[in-house]
Amino acid sequence: MISLNGIRKVFQTKDGPVAAVNGVNLKIKEGEIYGIIGYSGAGKSTLIRMLNMLERPTEGDVEVAGKALSKLSNNELRKARQEIGMIFQHFNLLWSRTVRDNIAFPLEIAGVKKSERDKRVNELIELVGLEGRGESYPSQLSGGQKQRVGIARALANNPKVLLCDEATSALDPKTTDSILDLLVDINEKLGLTIILITHEMHVIRKICHQVAVMEAGKVVEQGPVLEVFRKPKENMTKEFVKQITEPEETTDAIKQMLAEHPEGQIVQLTFVGEEAERPLITQLIREFDIEVNIVQGKITKIQKGSYGTLFVALNGQKKEVEKAITFIRNKEVDVEVITYA
Ligand SMILES: Nc1ncnc2c1ncn2[C@@H]1O[C@H](COP(=O)(O)OP(=O)(O)OP(=O)(O)O)[C@@H](O)[C@H]1O
Ligand SMILES: [Mg+2]
Repeated sequence: MISLNGIRKVFQTKDGPVAAVNGVNLKIKEGEIYGIIGYSGAGKSTLIRMLNMLERPTEGDVEVAGKALSKLSNNELRKARQEIGMIFQHFNLLWSRTVRDNIAFPLEIAGVKKSERDKRVNELIELVGLEGRGESYPSQLSGGQKQRVGIARALANNPKVLLCDEATSALDPKTTDSILDLLVDINEKLGLTIILITHEMHVIRKICHQVAVMEAGKVVEQGPVLEVFRKPKENMTKEFVKQITEPEETTDAIKQMLAEHPEGQIVQLTFVGEEAERPLITQLIREFDIEVNIVQGKITKIQKGSYGTLFVALNGQKKEVEKAITFIRNKEVDVEVITYA
């Protein structure tokens, strides 16, 4: 559906050239929700803006829905862009137009007749849950509602692809969740391919199928969300995964547990599937002569299934504890021993 080959973007600045994106290759399948995560300045916005040629690559090819964008004439590019909607952190609405007229705007540009436009706007208002707000102005809406207008407008011309540049970064956590739910909803209902960029792992966890991690203009790691969460390879990725798996209190709790049981071991278990953890703990207690204490645990739902980490302290004789760890390893649960006392 989308493929980026050897994409580079170099900006000329007073201080010399800046390679904002420096050799990125990506493939995104139709119907996927593909997340790109990275810290500020990693090159995420520059990358996503090359997917609709708001930014032209210095090098490399961008292909969207079978079209090589860099080879199109201006006229062809205008057509191709109708297949690619985009939403922004600060919504970019037209403040002097009502909700209806904001949503109708891209239809006007595409030359859609008034009667058809009205019908389409009604459908879109319903799709994004803005019934009754059609005649409001953006300044009269909450942040979440403004982004719903942004989404409706982006979908007006039935695009195949939706680009989201930090679309939830200006919203509170609850509103963020409702907008993410809406994105999943339209992904499923319309089969829309969604590319979103964010600096929050929570957003990736909640709705993405695939994730790419960006650092200094490069993609340093990519894969299915579950796999990347289970076995992050790069340090950058590990930092992001920690955002959601390791609350601050964990370290304190581990320290305290070790102080109380200096002979014990603390292990971090990572598993997939909601039921997995309970029988395992019960079995450990039953089959080994050890004491098992849960230090901290967190199960997070992800787009496909669930993902959990559990920090447990295993206290007992060294040999028995080691036997228990071997037992866990054989259960297809990832085990990482945090500390040897
Ligand atoms: N038009 C421009 N001219 C010069 N440099 C630019 C331009 N746009 C971006 N850059 C530089 O390219 C790098 C990547 O910027 P970009 O905005 O793509 O990062 P980002 O990952 O989206 O960051 P953020 O999370 O802060 O939005 C930065 O060093 C930035 O200063
Ligand atoms: Mg950005």
